Amino acid sequence: MKTRLYVYTGTGNSLWVARQLALELKEASLEFMPNPSRDVEVEAGGVGIIFPVHVWGLPIHVVRFVNHLQVKSETYLFAVAVNAGQVAATLLQLQKLLLTRNLSLASGYSVALPSNYIPWGGPGPIDRQERRFTEAREKVKVIAGAILQSQRQRVDRGFFWQNILFSSIYKLSFPRICKLDKNFWVDEKCNRCGICSKVCPTNNIEMGDEKPTWLHRCEQCLACIQWCPQEAIQYGKKTPKYQRYHHPEVTLQDMLHQADVNQKVVSPTCKG
Ligand SMILES: Cc1cc2nc3c(=O)[nH]c(=O)nc-3n(C[C@H](O)[C@H](O)[C@H](O)COP(=O)(O)O)c2cc1C
Ligand code: SF4
Ligand code: SF4
Repeated sequence: MKTRLYVYTGTGNSLWVARQLALELKEASLEFMPNPSRDVEVEAGGVGIIFPVHVWGLPIHVVRFVNHLQVKSETYLFAVAVNAGQVAATLLQLQKLLLTRNLSLASGYSVALPSNYIPWGGPGPIDRQERRFTEAREKVKVIAGAILQSQRQRVDRGFFWQNILFSSIYKLSFPRICKLDKNFWVDEKCNRCGICSKVCPTNNIEMGDEKPTWLHRCEQCLACIQWCPQEAIQYGKKTPKYQRYHHPEVTLQDMLHQADVNQKVVSPTCKG
C-alpha cells in the first residue's frame, strides 16, 4: 500500500515520529501538512496524519487541514497524536471530525515525548526525556506493524472523566487561541535575526523597525519561543527561567522548510 504521511510540528517531536514511521513503512512519503485555502486531494492507499496534541485536542492547523482533505472513502486513514502524556480525547475528536466528512479513522495512536509547553515549564530531566525517546521508538515500530496490516482498532484515549473535563477546556480555549500571542514579549537579548518570523507556520510575526510583533493569528505551536537562538522570546512571567526545547534530531532547517510550505499561502483567519 502506498502511504502518504502529513505532519505538523512546533518543536520537531511530531516530525521525528513521522520520520521514524516513514522508515518502518514500505513506500511511505512524508510531507508537511499544508495550511490550505482550498481542498487537498490525496491519491494514496493510506494516509497518515501526525501532529502534536494542543490543549487536549487538535491544533487549529490540523482541524483546518482535515476540513480540506479529499480522499476516497476506501482510503486507509490513520493518525498519531504526539503529546506529553495526556492525549485525552484528541483522537476521538479527530474521528468525529472525519465522520462529518464521511471518512473513517481506521486507527489512532498516542505517542508521548517531552513537553514543549513552556508556559508550564521545561521538558523535564534528560533521563526522562531519553526514556520517552526510547519508548516512542518502540511504539512507532508497533504502530507501523499494525498499519502494514491495515488494522482497524479503537483509537488511543485518556480516562473517561479526564476526557470530559479536558474536552470542555479545549472547547472554551479553541476560539481564543489565535490571540494568546499577546502574552509573548521579547527581552534585551533579541538581535533582530528574524528567525522567529521565518519559522512561524502562519506568518504571524512581523519584523518591524524594532522588535518582532505578533499579529494575532497564532496557532500556539510555540516554534517561535522554542527556536529563538537567543532565547529572547518570553511568554508570560515564568519562561525566563525555563529551559527551551526542541527534538534533538530536528533542525532549524527542517522547521524553515515547514514554514516555507505554509507561508506561501495567505494565512486564513484564526477560525478552524
Ligand atoms: C499549546 C500547547 C498545548 C499542549 N497541550 C498538551 C496536552 O493537552 N496534552 C499533552 O500531553 N501535551 C500537550 N502539549 C505538549 C505537546 O503536545 C508535546 O510536547 C508534543 O510532543 C509537541 O510536539 P511537536 O514538537 O511536534 O510540536 C501542548 C503543547 C502546546 C504547544
Ligand atoms: S528569533 Fe529571537 S533574536 Fe531573532 S528576531 Fe526573533 S526574538 Fe529576536
Ligand atoms: S507566533 Fe509563534 S506560537 Fe504562534 S503560530 Fe507563530 S511560531 Fe507558532
